[in-house]
Formats: sequence, C-alpha cells, structure tokens
Amino acid sequence: MPGRGHFISFEGIDGSGKSTQARLLAQALRDAGHVVTLTREPGGSPGAEEIRRLVLEGDPDRWSAETEILLFTAARRDHLEKTIRPALARDEIVITDRFADSTRVYQGITRGDLRALVDRLNDLMIGTEPDLTLLIDIDPATALSRAVARQGSEQRFEEMGLAMQTAMRAGFLALAQATPARFVVIDGARDPQAVAAEVLRAAQARLPR
Ligand code: ADP
Ligand code: TYD
Repeated sequence: MPGRGHFISFEGIDGSGKSTQARLLAQALRDAGHVVTLTREPGGSPGAEEIRRLVLEGDPDRWSAETEILLFTAARRDHLEKTIRPALARDEIVITDRFADSTRVYQGITRGDLRALVDRLNDLMIGTEPDLTLLIDIDPATALSRAVARQGSEQRFEEMGLAMQTAMRAGFLALAQATPARFVVIDGARDPQAVAAEVLRAAQARLPR
C-alpha cells in the first residue's frame, strides 16, 4: 500500500532495553533495504524535544497530574504532525522509542487513576496507534540496576523506585493482554543480541512486504 508506511513502537519500563532494541531493529531493517525513521518520546521533533525538557527535568512536583498529561499529549501531537505522519506518507518504517502506551501506563497509574482521562485526550488529539508494539518485558530490579548505571539529568521518573516500576510492568502487561493484535511481548532479560533476534522476527512477521 503506497504512502502508508509501517509504524512500530517500543514500550517497557525504564532500563528495560527499549532504546538499545529500537536502534538494533532500525539498523537490521536498514541493512535489509528499508528506509527507517528512528525516533523517540517524549520528543522526536524540535517542538516536542522542548516539551521533553519541561516534563523530564526539574522538581518532580512542578506539574499537576492533569498538566503533565496535557504536556505529554502536546509533545506527541507535534511529533505526529512533524515527524511520524510525514515519514509514513513517504512509505517509510517509523520506529519510536515509546508512544501513547507510556502515557496510559505512567500517567494512568502513577498520578492516581487517570486512565480514562488519558484515553479521552488520546482519542481527541492523537487517534493513531502503531501497527506493532514491542513490549520489552523485564523484572524491575534488573531494569533499575541498568537505569541507575546510566544516570543523567532526566531523573524525574527514574527515581520512582521498585514498587512503582513493578506496578508499571504490570500495567504494560495488562495493556498487551487487552490488545493482543497490536502487542508482542519480548523477554528482555537476555543478552542484547538474543533479544534483537526475536524483535526482528516479530517485526518481519508483520511487515507488509
Ligand atoms: P531503556 O531505553 O529501556 O531505558 P536502554 O536501552 O537505554 O533502556 O538500556 C539501559 C541500559 O542497559 C544501557 O546502559 C544499556 O546499554 C544496557 N542494556 C540494554 N540492553 C541490555 C541487555 N539486554 N542486557 C544488559 N544490558 C543491557
Ligand atoms: P525515556 O527517555 O524513554 O526513558 P528511559 O530510557 O529511562 O525509558 O522516557 C523518559 C521518562 O518519561 C520515562 O521515565 C517514562 C516517562 N514518560 C511518561 O511518563 N509518559 C509518557 O507519555 C512518555 C512518552 C514517557
């Protein structure tokens, strides 16, 4: 189908290995001759990268739960308009490190029971789902030890601790179970190349050509 492209997202808790796997998949698909746009959230367009700094840096209490949902959704809308839709229109494969499922799980769970609000705003302002979502699943203790080894200035969410990461993991797995046509769950607790091989198989099985 010309001009439709293919839209793949990676999801999972912090330190699960999403960014590593998104990079490896992009490389493998480019090696196979595909044109790939590799991007990430929050961010992925100049405007959304500015919003990224607002939401990930500074005092963890600087935004109310509702304002935070609006900011993540605003960033996603800009990312969709400026990066994702144009690449899909060029018939490329778009790989994004996080998309709307991150808001469903992080804002839907961590800041009170706001899942219904997240879904309503998503329907209004985003309305596009990936063709395939690869959930890199890993136990939170392993993920936390990886994430801590790589600390930078964006620690607002990474300091949530083990109990919250356990709730996030369960949230992602519940989403995958509720949306089996879109999700593939990948065991992330193996060496990166073994994970990448399974990721590539899952992606190739869904690619239209
Ligand atoms: P995420 O994007 O999910 O936060 P990253 O891909 O940035 O995860 O990985 C977090 C850290 O763990 C990085 O330092 C990365 O090099 C390392 N890492 C990634 N995948 C693996 C793996 N399969 N085994 C061990 N370490 C890994
Ligand atoms: P990211 O840079 O992907 O961090 P990591 O590599 O540690 O997974 O995302 C930064 C943080 O933003 C991460 O802790 C999850 C959070 N986040 C949300 O809370 N809601 C969202 O909608 C998105 C996209 C990210």
